[in-house]
Amino acid sequence: MENAACETRHLVVDPRQPDVTLIEEAGAILRGGGLVAFPTETVYGLGANALDARAVAGIFEAKGRPADNPLIVHIDCLRTLSRYVNEVPPVVSRLASRFWPGPLTLVLQGGQAFPPAVTGGLDTVAVRVPAHPVALALIRTAGVPVAAPSANVSGRPSPTTAGHVLDDLSGKIALVLDGGPSGLGVESTVLDVSGDCPVILRPGGTIRRDLEELIGPVEVDPAINGDATTGGAPRSPGMKYTHYAPRASLILFEGHDQRRVAARVLVEAKRFAAVGRKVGIFTYGETSSFYDGMVEYSVIVAGKRSDPGTVASLLYESLRRFDRLGVDVILAEGMPFDGLGMAVMNRLRRASGGHVVTIEC
Ligand code: TXA
Ligand code: MG
Repeated sequence: MENAACETRHLVVDPRQPDVTLIEEAGAILRGGGLVAFPTETVYGLGANALDARAVAGIFEAKGRPADNPLIVHIDCLRTLSRYVNEVPPVVSRLASRFWPGPLTLVLQGGQAFPPAVTGGLDTVAVRVPAHPVALALIRTAGVPVAAPSANVSGRPSPTTAGHVLDDLSGKIALVLDGGPSGLGVESTVLDVSGDCPVILRPGGTIRRDLEELIGPVEVDPAINGDATTGGAPRSPGMKYTHYAPRASLILFEGHDQRRVAARVLVEAKRFAAVGRKVGIFTYGETSSFYDGMVEYSVIVAGKRSDPGTVASLLYESLRRFDRLGVDVILAEGMPFDGLGMAVMNRLRRASGGHVVTIEC
């Protein structure tokens, strides 16, 4: 199956009860070595048969993804895992029984069953069972494990709608299954259980507190704060690349006092506008009134800080909307790191490329 310079088909599927004929068509494309973008509960994935080295190479080509950044293998249930790794450790079984299907990726020893491009040549493999009827039906129907990164051009914000996928990958992939907006809006949590103590390599849809309730202490890789220099080399290869970034440059303003943060954003907005830059402001319900009536700025209110689930679901669409609005610089207010806030702040910090302003109390 040839993916390069093809016409991308766009098929709308019912996200709760996907049409069997459409899923069979998509499954056949995967089995034939083609690329299919599909909805998951986190973001849209770009799938290929994980056992087919050529198909997997197609993912890297379509996304422009660095070759050393390994992929997540998507399977339909825990039982399938034993086909691809020698040993399923007890911690994996426990976590999977509670959190699969769901937004948790487990990094475990093994993966030799897959072509080296899937694992980036590491001796570990990342696996998850997505909690989306379309994704599960596709994996089952295809009858193969599905390697799937987020379906965006490398470095861009992840896609939460089929429209985002087409904006980035139209003409480069065979098919996108459109199941409407993905619910969570941020990717799965990547948890490394290959060593003695479990480590979060990427915060995501499954929060640390819930993991610790089940398995005890869970470390967080210092590289997730966007500063690899404080924690040595990141343990997840993907964390060393600029990521989630809109075309405009993004400056993140952090601080405990929300009102002082917003006041500072306003000062900076005026400064950028005075030199002719088109300014976008990423804010929350608690402080959006600071910008009332300021029609010269593109203001996006991404829900409330007190409701990180809503912020997560609006995050990537908001970053893409700033691009559509043609802003030059995005001034983003930060939010607390609690719960899903850890994933949101990780994405904002990475989108800023380290351009973070801390406002002390
Ligand atoms: O929610 C998600 O996880 C989405 C949907 C489509 O499932 N997928 C996704 O894939 O976000 P991707 O490729 O965009 O991010 C995978 C992350 C990368 O940071 C990669 O470096 C890391 O997982 N990863 C994959 N295999 C790994 C391994 N063996 N060891 C450490 N990190 C790994
Ligand atoms: Mg990604």
